[in-house]
Amino acid sequence: MTTVDWDALRARARELTARAYAPYSHFPVGAAALVDDGRVVAGCNVENAGYGVTLCAECGLVSDMVAGGGGRLVAFTCANALGERLMPCGRCRQLLWEHGGAALLVDTPAGIMTMDQVLPQAFGPADLDHVREDN
Ligand code: THU
Repeated sequence: MTTVDWDALRARARELTARAYAPYSHFPVGAAALVDDGRVVAGCNVENAGYGVTLCAECGLVSDMVAGGGGRLVAFTCANALGERLMPCGRCRQLLWEHGGAALLVDTPAGIMTMDQVLPQAFGPADLDHVREDN
């Protein structure tokens, strides 16, 4: 069982808020996570004049993990510009589910929770596999 240095992850997430590109919302977000091989990956939000094209901090984080060699997310935290814990948006919970699954630890304002508490009855790869196996 990997031990999680939550203070270091939170500090990294807060650091990443300073890199955010958020000229439209003025709401910088930073995210950091521990990968199962011990790497720490991170991301910040990157907005766009086409507002809907905005990339959440979690998108950058997942890209950092995949481009850096892949793996599974073990522990995740997200921060606003004040360094406060921030819950990932609905779309990003789906993104995190794909790469961390039910056991991923999520740092919430209400304490550390598992991904299946944060996204109950999630749709995911197992749903696709289930139908594929029957066909
Ligand atoms: N945002 C994130 O980066 N992650 C989230 O989980 C919540 C929202 C960003 C998107 C947008 O740039 C800004 O926060 C305001 O919604």
